[in-house]
Amino acid sequence: MKTASPLPKVDSARGAWLHLSDGRRVLDAISSWWVTTHGHCHPAIMQAIASQANSLDQVLFASFSHEGAERLAGELLELTHTFFHKVFFSDDGSTAVEVALKMALQAQAQAGQPGRTHFVAFDAAYHGDTVGAMSVAGASPFTAPFSPLLFPILRCRQGRHRQDPLELWTSHFVETMARHGEQVAAVILEPLVQGAGGMIVWPEDAVRHIVEVARSFGAYVIFDEVMTGFGRTGALFAFQKLGLTPDLLCLSKGLTAGALPLAVTLCSKVIYDSFWHDDRARMFFHGHSFTANPMGCAAALANLELLRQGGLQAKWNSMEAIHRRQLEGLADHPAVADGRFCGTIAAVELKTKQVGYLSGDPLLLHRQALEKGVLLRPLGNVLYLLPPYCITEDELLRCWKVLADLLP
Ligand SMILES: Cc1ncc(COP(=O)(O)O)c(C=O)c1O
Repeated sequence: MKTASPLPKVDSARGAWLHLSDGRRVLDAISSWWVTTHGHCHPAIMQAIASQANSLDQVLFASFSHEGAERLAGELLELTHTFFHKVFFSDDGSTAVEVALKMALQAQAQAGQPGRTHFVAFDAAYHGDTVGAMSVAGASPFTAPFSPLLFPILRCRQGRHRQDPLELWTSHFVETMARHGEQVAAVILEPLVQGAGGMIVWPEDAVRHIVEVARSFGAYVIFDEVMTGFGRTGALFAFQKLGLTPDLLCLSKGLTAGALPLAVTLCSKVIYDSFWHDDRARMFFHGHSFTANPMGCAAALANLELLRQGGLQAKWNSMEAIHRRQLEGLADHPAVADGRFCGTIAAVELKTKQVGYLSGDPLLLHRQALEKGVLLRPLGNVLYLLPPYCITEDELLRCWKVLADLLP
């Protein structure tokens, strides 16, 4: 923290704007760490939370159920086209991932495959900051101090830029599965866009190939859509855009439209059935104090209602069209190594000697953008935009102008 400057205080927020206590207003070009979907303090979400707060604030989800959780689980299964069978609640993206990993391992063992104890993940992956989630991430400054605690995984090399040949994205994975496939419980990936690793946009065919190979070896597929879910890639979920269904799906961030912490892990019937038994020792022992918090569920239900009202697909398409045009304009910029986009997400990778989170000067760029009234938080040498869907065309162009002005 010694290198950080004092943090400005935020008094309030509306739509795409944060209002600071010193009177400035700032455009939230990264949806407050990728959570805010419809905009800050959306009236329908706030109203749902307020009215829930008047009836049931919190109750343990081990001895009881409640209407909001049951409705939310049902609506999520409907929204994901009923491929998934059950919904497991937790608190945030990291816990949704921990649940998926534990569920995959135990389900394999209970389905007669106790030797499947390995996980496969990718070099630029990020799945959260808890120990299991860090274990399946790529090696990075986020995880380095904790390396003695992390469990060993099979980590695969991958591509970085869209023009990288398909083999670069898949060949190490295919070799790894050929060597260790029989011991793999599950493969975990962020489908289509790896967020914290640098907004890396995967070729769709590479993801399809990975899923196909994983399945052919009997490994489960976990899609971590904590970031990509709820429209970010220009489809409601990346798995729908890919035409693929994973065995386990992790969702959080935009689940409550970004208003309250809540997460879910959805699983297939095969996985659920492996836990369905008279022997209590075979149940899934995992629960948090705030599992299925009623106010979080109310926010999520209001979010799903807003999604059902429609109009967002057109908005996602128009955001993508703006990103494409702006990136075309920067294609020949001498400081730009790569420009990429996927739906509402766009990234500009700067030419630097190193790549990764410690390259470039993200803190300086963050400060300079803030002085111009836009919240950006570069990931090392990668500047990106990931705004809430309420952003207007003028506001989005303003974010692009500030980003372009930061280029050396
Ligand atoms: C893909 C992905 N998975 C998991 C997480 C962890 O989520 P949380 O910070 O809510 O624990 C993140 C957070 O950025 C993420 O991007």
